[in-house]
Amino acid sequence: MHDSLAGWRSEFPIVETCTYLVSHSLGAMPRAAVQNVQAYADTWLTRGVRAWSEGWWELGHTVGDILAPVIGAPAGSVSMHQNATVAQGIVGSCFSYDGPRRRIVLTDLEFPSNIYLFQGFRRYGAEVVTVPSDDGIRTNLQRLLDAIDERTILVPLSLVLFRSSYIQDARAVIRKAHSVGAHVVLDIYQAAGVIPVDVQELQVDFAVGGSVKWLCGGPGAGYLYVRPDLARRLEPAWVGWAAHAEPFTFETNLRYAAAPERFQSGTPNVPALYSARAGYEIVAEIGVDAIRAKSLALTRRMMDHATAAGFRLNTPSDDRERAGAVIVDVPDPGAVAAELIRRNVMVDFRPGAGVRMAPHFYNTEAEVDHACATLEAIVTAR
Ligand SMILES: Cc1ncc(COP(=O)(O)O)c(C=O)c1O
Repeated sequence: MHDSLAGWRSEFPIVETCTYLVSHSLGAMPRAAVQNVQAYADTWLTRGVRAWSEGWWELGHTVGDILAPVIGAPAGSVSMHQNATVAQGIVGSCFSYDGPRRRIVLTDLEFPSNIYLFQGFRRYGAEVVTVPSDDGIRTNLQRLLDAIDERTILVPLSLVLFRSSYIQDARAVIRKAHSVGAHVVLDIYQAAGVIPVDVQELQVDFAVGGSVKWLCGGPGAGYLYVRPDLARRLEPAWVGWAAHAEPFTFETNLRYAAAPERFQSGTPNVPALYSARAGYEIVAEIGVDAIRAKSLALTRRMMDHATAAGFRLNTPSDDRERAGAVIVDVPDPGAVAAELIRRNVMVDFRPGAGVRMAPHFYNTEAEVDHACATLEAIVTAR
């Protein structure tokens, strides 16, 4: 395979020290992020309190604008938060759950945070409807669509399921939700940076995610996109002084800022926002289409190896349904993953699913081959 992205490898030092196939969990740190973290420290050290008026205070907005093109969002529509869970909590706080429209509909394949968080809204009157999957890999789409009706207020939906890497039919869910007056909160964490995402084209109401994985932005930089026409109307109850139109007046009556500031809480997570931007810039420069093309070729190669070795895959084999990770079903995946790591092949596992491996744009075919051969050797020996 001719690899037009091979040149990016040298920007990610860790890939020269191990076989790094765990970008679905923690993307490799870009060299440029080291400089950004240093710039943060230098600014704090030398500018002190002046840093707030020299860019720190606006970071939630300005860093959101760097990320926005990667997910098809317009400038000024993305705010930055500590993590994706916080971002979803803020969305949930924009609604009331005491009227006839009080249902939150989600599937049992959602990331646990999403389930825990929205179940918490039961104490405010929400009714949570959980739609079961048939196979633990895919959502039963028709069952999900049937569960969304005039009683539904929110549909939290992962574009890519963390457990199986399955790409959900967000378009169909959004269409159904909108036809009955419900809103969709799309969790794009396992999608952004590895499969094309265009929140405007999808016409989704909200999108949330974080930067730890495919965006190579490190922890502490969750994000929230709100559809601009909605953003003008919504008033989150989970709110802090950074959401005030004039925070430095310290008024006790809340006057909401325009978007995206009105979705902010308190002081921005400055060091995380410094470190996150390098990954966004690199992903934007490469372009997600090119990343997706390479990812598909490498995951296909990985799957061919695994099936040839007799393993079952808990990942859709159809390229149109599969995002960036491959889940190989092996007995005792926790122990197998630990042995892979001991042999310097970075992977992880999910109970009941298997060993998760994911090539990203900085990986090579040789690494995929090495990881698969090592996996096979470990399982055979056991
Ligand atoms: C799909 C998905 N949503 C949400 C999360 C959790 O996000 P956070 O820790 O930023 O709240 C994860 C983390 O792995 C995830 O994979």
